[in-house]
Amino acid sequence: MILKQFLDDTSKTFTYILAAAEGKDAIIIDPVLEGVDDYLQFLGSHNLRLIKALDTHIHADHFTGLSRLRELTKCMIIASQESAVELASQRIKDGDSLEVDGFELKAIYTPGHTIESYCFYTQGFIFTGDTLFIRGNGRTDFQNGSAKQLYESITQKLFILPADTVVCPGHDYKGENFSTIGREIEQNPRLAGKTCEEFIEIMNNLNLPNPKLMDVAVPANLKTGTGLKESLHKSIIFNRSDLENIKHSFLLVDLREAAEIGKTGMLPGAVHIPYKDLIHAIGDPNSSLMQAYNKGDMIIFYCAYGERSALAIKIAKENKLEKVGHLDGGFHKGNT
Ligand SMILES: [Fe+2]
Repeated sequence: MILKQFLDDTSKTFTYILAAAEGKDAIIIDPVLEGVDDYLQFLGSHNLRLIKALDTHIHADHFTGLSRLRELTKCMIIASQESAVELASQRIKDGDSLEVDGFELKAIYTPGHTIESYCFYTQGFIFTGDTLFIRGNGRTDFQNGSAKQLYESITQKLFILPADTVVCPGHDYKGENFSTIGREIEQNPRLAGKTCEEFIEIMNNLNLPNPKLMDVAVPANLKTGTGLKESLHKSIIFNRSDLENIKHSFLLVDLREAAEIGKTGMLPGAVHIPYKDLIHAIGDPNSSLMQAYNKGDMIIFYCAYGERSALAIKIAKENKLEKVGHLDGGFHKGNT
């Protein structure tokens, strides 16, 4: 397993890149805009392909690197169903597993620091964002935070993990890097032996100033769609109802992952090419996509929300496929 921790010195934010081994697909957690060049360099030097990127929550103290990474690597942006972030490729909920080449990351909904905070678990490591720090925890006084919810999230969802689970926090302000669940249960001064009422009392009396970047970072971090919508202007965009009236013959390509398709089924006649495999399909003259395209069919991509399909148009055009379009708004449980 490759696990690389990066520190943004200004905001003391930790970012993580995870992959099963060199040469595999990778995921990044909590990327900072200023760190993007470092992440790309690391990915390149380990021959990793970034396929997924996510924030544990909407950050108030730094600008997220999600959009920039998507622009440069065409990775998918994952967001929770509780998050107000716009244009995510895939929405996850509590208990969902995110597949990455060779391992899975389990999503654990842990509201409290903010209403849309998640932690992620894989193979003995828990990525806690601002829910749990090393002998500390995230504040609860803005972005719909709640000390009561945070106490419940930490004690009922994190402190039940094996004691040797490695805690990979979203920040550290004192120069430490990792902890374990066992150490935090015993030594976290806000939580060790504390009742919920005592914890709430502590959290309500911190009197912290607002993060310097809060007023600009939060609105900016909600706009992960920046730059993508604009790039679609000259593309062919369809609505579901248009499909029956298209005169041209076309191939529908479903870019979602198998687990997402299970919830809705595919549109009639569609072929399944998961987004991460698209580039291979375009490079393979025997793929169903290229056979249809070379026969003269138009390719119409769709996914859950229209974001992967928008990226697919970009990839197709970069590979000289001109007759491509996508389904606006995608195909998901709410709009079947
Ligand atoms: Fe935060």
